[in-house]
Amino acid sequence: MSTRPRVSARISAISESATLAVDAKAKAMKAAGRPVIGFGAGEPDFPTPGYIVEAAVQAAREPRFHKYTPAGGLPELKQAIADKTRRDSGYAVEASQVLVTNGGKQAVYEAFATLLDPGDEVLVVAPYWTTYPEAIKLAGGVQVDVVTDESTGYLANVEQLEAARTERTKVLLFVSPSNPTGAVYSREQTEAIGRWAAEHGLWVVTDEIYEHLVYGGAEFTSIATAVLELGDRVVILNGVAKTYAMTGWRVGWLIGPSDVVKAATNLQSHATSNVANVSQAAALAAVSGDLSAVAEMRAAFDRRRQTMVRMLNEIPGVFCPEPKGAFYAYPSVKDLIGKELRGRRPQSSGELAELILEEAEVAVVPGEAFGTPGYFRLSYALGDDDLVEGVSRMAKLLSEAR
Ligand SMILES: Cc1ncc(COP(=O)(O)O)c(C=O)c1O
Repeated sequence: MSTRPRVSARISAISESATLAVDAKAKAMKAAGRPVIGFGAGEPDFPTPGYIVEAAVQAAREPRFHKYTPAGGLPELKQAIADKTRRDSGYAVEASQVLVTNGGKQAVYEAFATLLDPGDEVLVVAPYWTTYPEAIKLAGGVQVDVVTDESTGYLANVEQLEAARTERTKVLLFVSPSNPTGAVYSREQTEAIGRWAAEHGLWVVTDEIYEHLVYGGAEFTSIATAVLELGDRVVILNGVAKTYAMTGWRVGWLIGPSDVVKAATNLQSHATSNVANVSQAAALAAVSGDLSAVAEMRAAFDRRRQTMVRMLNEIPGVFCPEPKGAFYAYPSVKDLIGKELRGRRPQSSGELAELILEEAEVAVVPGEAFGTPGYFRLSYALGDDDLVEGVSRMAKLLSEAR
């Protein structure tokens, strides 16, 4: 019998997506008849706008879409993404600099696979979204965390980044608005960070998937446009999932300099080829249309955001800075760890989240999933009544902590 491991070391090192795991557990409890309220999912609760769905229906009837198309994306979609990028962030790119991917996730994976050699370091601001570490690791890269906390609203500054930089640093990952914290960097902060990266010859991979979900006085700033000194060492990741409520359609993209895009397209041509044409046609309708659908969603998210943050901050032991973008709140629950609650004494935010799921039938994602134990991520992309009921249940339970 072979003593070789059944699963390769590289792949067994990948952990399960904690956010999807929480969602799956909540859905399973719901299916078993328990009235679970889930704050785990990272997706809008709205359906995809009708005109986008209609474009897909039409495309499904067209025989040319029943065939393989270019691996890097439909030419008309690549052009529309280039035009949309110019419209929304003022960044001028050619269609040849766009690669259409199976969701933003594939763009994340391909960006790191294309840029990193073994040992290359990537600066990642923690709390970070769960997919980045796995994509960096698979590419042989080394993640270097730059840890932030609630005292700065989870924003990193140049001094912290500089302290983490070494000779081997190749890439800065810049995500604003952020998943999981909802933090949004101001134009000045973005410029300072971008100039520092340019000065040290770093690449910037910037994830702009939440660009249209900012609230109050916050504004989205694309680091690519704000800091022209970065030159062609910028890779933008984006997609239709969050802006147009299209998580299930699986269309994202990567924008970068021609050599990087060409190499990433070669990778994709062997891995998955073209994204499903019907989905690409839907994405074409989305990015060439206006932004009225996202404006409506944004108004609903903003209302829910304010309700959630107010209610969370009323719970003793919970502190939640105001998230300025995306659709997540990221409260600290550090003061509740180790306290007695319903005969148990949770020793981590993971254990506390489990207890809340069992006792209050409310699902939240513990901070362990995002590199910072002691916190919860709650998505406010769910109906207003469920949101109030869910946070009220949590508040009632947590008020018993002694
Ligand atoms: C920050 C961020 N980037 C990228 C994605 C990828 O989204 P998708 O693969 O659904 O397009 C997500 C989804 O949760 C995200 O939160």
